[in-house]
Amino acid sequence: MYNQPMLRDDALKGKTIVVTGGGTGLGKAMGTYFLKLGANLVITSRKLEVLQKTATEMATETGGQVLAVQCDVRDYAQVENVLAKTIEKFGKVDGLVNNAAGNFISPTERLSANAFSSIIDIVLKGSVNCTLAFGKHWIAAKQPASILNIVTTYAFTGSAYVVPSACAKGGVLAMTRSLAVEWGKYGIRSNAIAPGPFPTKGAWDRLLPGNLAEKFDFKKRVPLKRVGENQELANLAAFLISDFSGYINGEVITIDGGEWLQGAGQMNGLEAIPNEMWDMLEQMTRAAKGS
Ligand code: HXC
Ligand code: NAP
Repeated sequence: MYNQPMLRDDALKGKTIVVTGGGTGLGKAMGTYFLKLGANLVITSRKLEVLQKTATEMATETGGQVLAVQCDVRDYAQVENVLAKTIEKFGKVDGLVNNAAGNFISPTERLSANAFSSIIDIVLKGSVNCTLAFGKHWIAAKQPASILNIVTTYAFTGSAYVVPSACAKGGVLAMTRSLAVEWGKYGIRSNAIAPGPFPTKGAWDRLLPGNLAEKFDFKKRVPLKRVGENQELANLAAFLISDFSGYINGEVITIDGGEWLQGAGQMNGLEAIPNEMWDMLEQMTRAAKGS
């Protein structure tokens, strides 16, 4: 079944992994699975109370070790503090998941310059800050490591009404591919996941407020006619952060049930044609042969 764990039980044994934005949503789901696979986990975000509650839940559910550290990823000094606290507690760090994000829907011309910057600062600069601090540490320590960036499918297509997020995620994808090459020689891999719709409270409150969730039903946009299950994303994330994906570097893996391709293919709208009409349409297209 698609919501079952995938990797073997000790797949992340002995690894320490930091997940930004790890107190809620997809970050929480990934972190919980990493713990089940034997990892030590550090979760960070701005709201310490949320982090501490999640850390307690995770430890109870998995029996693993979880450290909660408050950190606004926009502030480099706070990111360095996460690194220091991680080393202090676990002795080393092996993986970083840049998952923290901010987003909301708006026509771009309604945004203040500060609103635009806020999203760029959280998503792009936040991912840069974490990657830079951890990367410097790994290179100095001569330690191999794995970076996983959570982007979106509109990092490559762009998207109206979430333009700051699209710009920022596009930048994170460029960083993923750039550092895969530059830091490959240090044994530091960089990969990304581009999720389609996974209904988390954080995303849905900001992208589909009020009755938009019914009006703009994501399930209808997805060829598989469903949204994602958190465990499906956690399975992919665990694989990419683990040594099992040791030869994958600079890759972005889309997990969206085919959603973005459905929007892209020119004739995909023919999905709306009922089956019984295809006999007539075939006759018409065959008849066009002689014209
Ligand atoms: C227009 C807005 C706004 C809105 C805030 N602003 N919300 N402008 N429409 N809905 C403006 C503010 O007026 C302010 O500008 C500036 O943005 C910063 O706002 P603050 O509230 O001071 O910022 P902050 O407290 O840092 O909060 C950041 C946030 C917030 C992004 C605005 O929503 C947040 O904390 N989000 C974190 C969680 C989140 O977004 N999760 C969703 C990730 S989902 P002025 O000019 O007034 O100072 C995701 C999914 C992708 O990425 C694809 C899914 C399919
Ligand atoms: P979420 O629960 O809102 O997660 C966002 C997390 O980021 C929160 O835990 C938040 O915690 C943290 N955060 C926000 N600003 C921060 C800052 N300045 N510093 C540190 N942490 C900060 O939403 P989600 O759906 O799980 O999203 C997780 C990731 O998946 C994001 O990168 C998102 O873009 C991506 N994604 C989600 C979907 C989807 O359908 N859900 C689709 C595509 C991509 P605090 O508020 O405590 O700081």
